[in-house]
Amino acid sequence: MKWSSLTTAALFAPGLALLRFPCSQLVVDRLDPLVSPGLIPSPHLHQIVGGNSFNASMDPEKDMPGESTCTTCQFSEDFSNYWTAVLYFKARNGTYKRVPQVPNSGFNGVNSGMTIYYMQDGLYNFQQTSKVSAFKPGFRMFIGDVNARTREEAERFRQLTYTCLQDINTRDPQIMDFPKEPCPAGIMTALRFPTCWDGKNLDSPDHMSHMAYPESGTFETGGPCPASHPVRMSQLFYEVVWDTRPFNNKADWPEDGSQPFVWSFGDSTGYANHADYVFGWQGDALQRALDSPCYINCPTLKTQSTQAMNACSKGRVVNEEINTWTETLPGGMVAGM
Ligand SMILES: *[C@@H]1O[C@H](CO)[C@@H](O)[C@H](O)[C@H]1NC(C)=O
Ligand SMILES: *[C@@H]1O[C@H](CO)[C@@H](O)[C@H](O)[C@H]1NC(C)=O
Repeated sequence: MKWSSLTTAALFAPGLALLRFPCSQLVVDRLDPLVSPGLIPSPHLHQIVGGNSFNASMDPEKDMPGESTCTTCQFSEDFSNYWTAVLYFKARNGTYKRVPQVPNSGFNGVNSGMTIYYMQDGLYNFQQTSKVSAFKPGFRMFIGDVNARTREEAERFRQLTYTCLQDINTRDPQIMDFPKEPCPAGIMTALRFPTCWDGKNLDSPDHMSHMAYPESGTFETGGPCPASHPVRMSQLFYEVVWDTRPFNNKADWPEDGSQPFVWSFGDSTGYANHADYVFGWQGDALQRALDSPCYINCPTLKTQSTQAMNACSKGRVVNEEINTWTETLPGGMVAGM
């Protein structure tokens, strides 16, 4: 139960804020302004949502709400960018196909993309010890390890998981590697970021060490932050639904009984699940929302229609094939790297 997603209000302590909202796809492109700023193309393919001022460089001084003319997120004051790697299927004949994304439960009509949560702690003991803070302009972070290929390496990150969806509402069990059998309704990746900030740095060389996990317990049970990272932040959490249904024919799966899915950088274990975040909310909108009890529909925030979200998109910068069967992954990567 400890990593369970919240799917019903019944689980949720009254008086707290929980934001859950869809962001449609902004672009699928080989750019990574956090880990490889300015590099065109970046080493591997990403799927990106949020404000349309996203580009390869993303200077920390960039005024994201000011420079964006639209956002793909339902809360229209959110010009942040959220991104992850892209899932591929490797057929038995050795060729690759990109796995499409589909809308999450409750968000029919949203053009792929992902679901974003900003959570408060104390969700499971129904006690919040104090308010959580919103991120500050210029804040960014990364979670996960693109080089992790073992469970031990992946266990440094507490909450990067997969769920084999029996239907769109399945949330458990959550596992740390790719499901071993075909999943009837797709594969969900869930990525929860650490919640304790050092209070000083908007970023750090590895994009992670300015953040830490609670010293004991979990964020959900209100576990205390370590002295080195004393500021209790909202928990940022992504859910991505990968539509693996077209790839469930076992005749196309590897003959050795292994599973066929691979991240866009070649990981076929799943242990290298990772995510990137660049904060870009307008003014104090996020803090206002976190300070005003609400569940999913947060009236202090402006919202836009699904149609308006879907209409916001961005052209790809890197021109390469991402829609048909290919001999390699984008950038010449292959499974098993
Ligand atoms: C990214 O956008 C900024 C403006 O925010 C611009 O100055 C910069 O040249 C752009 N970088 C790239 C690589 O497109
Ligand atoms: C490889 O297998 C896939 C899935 O069966 C099929 O769609 C594709 O056409 C095949 N490609 C080649 C080059 O045989």
